Amino acid sequence: MIELVTAVIKPHQLDAVKEALLGAGVEGMTVTEVRGFGRQRGKTENFRGSEYRIDLLPKVKIEVIVGDGAADQVVALIAEHARTGKIGDGKVWRVPLTGLLRVRTGETGPAAV
Ligand SMILES: Nc1ncnc2c1ncn2[C@@H]1O[C@H](COP(=O)(O)OP(=O)(O)OP(=O)(O)O)[C@@H](O)[C@H]1O
Ligand SMILES: [Mg+2]
Repeated sequence: MIELVTAVIKPHQLDAVKEALLGAGVEGMTVTEVRGFGRQRGKTENFRGSEYRIDLLPKVKIEVIVGDGAADQVVALIAEHARTGKIGDGKVWRVPLTGLLRVRTGETGPAAV
């Protein structure tokens, strides 16, 4: 099974997560700067000490496509290296993919990861 693991984490944790995933042998990743809020609606994280109400805080979204059985380890590594123990550490989710194509070679399925 091919799975897409998506995580939204704190930007400062990106390097640690990236290194951990590289060490685990992932074949690629996509990183996007995003903004979001969770249960606190971005209001209690005191971003840069601002006294203004901030509803959307800067986060980083990481997307990793993995083949058979690798998602468990990828999810665990992201959680381990994204965690600071403070609010806003993020979320990780995974979904099965019904198709994957490696454009250059025409490979499909797990071979395309
Ligand atoms: N239910 C959700 N749906 C979509 N994105 C979410 C959801 N919850 C969190 N996110 C994304 O994850 C980011 C980090 O969420 P956050 O860690 O604050 O979640 P939380 O549930 O409030 O946990 P905590 O209490 O530890 O802060 C948000 O800024 C948002 O981008
Ligand atoms: Mg939160």
